[in-house]
Amino acid sequence: MFKSAISTAAPLQRRTLLCSRTVVIASPLCRRSFMTNGIRRNALTDKSAHAASVGPHKQDLPKSSSQAPLTHPDAVSTVPTMVRGDWVLFHPVYTQEELKAVEVLHHEAKTFSDKLAAGLVKFARSLFDLASGYKHVTVPPNEKMTVQELRAAGYLLDDRAWLNRILFLESVAGVPGMVAATLRHLTSLRLMRRDSGWIHTCLEEAENERMHLMTFMTLRKPSLFFRAMVLGAQGVFYNLFFLSYIISPRTCHRFVGHLEEEAVLTYTRCIQDLEAGRIPEWTNEPAPEIAIDYWRLPPDAKLLDVMYAVRSDESTHRFVNHSLANLDPNTDVNPFALREPDMHVKGKKIAFDRAEAEKYVKESHALMEKKTDEALRSEKNAQ
Ligand SMILES: [Fe+2]
Ligand SMILES: [Fe+2]
Repeated sequence: MFKSAISTAAPLQRRTLLCSRTVVIASPLCRRSFMTNGIRRNALTDKSAHAASVGPHKQDLPKSSSQAPLTHPDAVSTVPTMVRGDWVLFHPVYTQEELKAVEVLHHEAKTFSDKLAAGLVKFARSLFDLASGYKHVTVPPNEKMTVQELRAAGYLLDDRAWLNRILFLESVAGVPGMVAATLRHLTSLRLMRRDSGWIHTCLEEAENERMHLMTFMTLRKPSLFFRAMVLGAQGVFYNLFFLSYIISPRTCHRFVGHLEEEAVLTYTRCIQDLEAGRIPEWTNEPAPEIAIDYWRLPPDAKLLDVMYAVRSDESTHRFVNHSLANLDPNTDVNPFALREPDMHVKGKKIAFDRAEAEKYVKESHALMEKKTDEALRSEKNAQ
């Protein structure tokens, strides 16, 4: 139905036209884009301001070409230091209001495939909770119990257990977006037809999840046993998801939508514990540098600020995947190919249904038309 609303090449070409004008002027390394107030922007103008706010870093100092290493030896800084932060795909940067706008939501499954996806996530969560010895209680069983006593009784996770849980989940969460992008990419090549904008969004999600992992990895060095667990889980999950996506992309996006519901819930509980002083080791923990750079946090940001940003990302994944699961993956365009709503929508609404997605695509086109007209007008005036 709404393929016609976006299937012509013109709007996408116009987007490229608008962006390339800025990109050509500066270094191609500065093509990082981000979003504020729901509109994707190029970070060119923001970069210098951010660099100034973050301040010079010791490792940013230029070295002679013979000394300058191409990479850092650690896993989280594998880029030349002079281009910090400009090597990532589009991802949102949130305002304070947006960070607080996220709600714990649940999509009610109605069809058989939706129920299957929801059931699988529920089963996986119970299995993981059991394996990691986690049981959540909203109110401590005895108000007088100390944090240590609550931890010893298994009612609270300590910082180490939280991190184990987060690291494992993030290592798995980065898989679906990459699988979906790979398969859609191959389909596009094989059938020699356009993808309708899904690939980029899937890739952005995969990278965003990987950045979560890279961020939390700075807090501890995973043991060999932990790495072996991740390896095993990846081997099984990648292949299962790959086969499942070939059979039913819609069910897979629904599955990821439910997985992200759990991620929002997990980070919400972590934030609640942190704010209530129930993870005292993290109360004054500064935000890792990679997180300050990625989410453009203030230089004195704390780990709590990172948790809020990560939870907002998970809410984006929840909204995007549940919305994509409401569409026909063979004929419908991705409504988020050109822009995304802000957290006041993504954090409070579980998904766009198909009609809402169509409306959003049309609004995006209208916006692009307006911007193109403005750009052409200002170009004409400049001549
Ligand atoms: Fe994540
Ligand atoms: Fe996620």
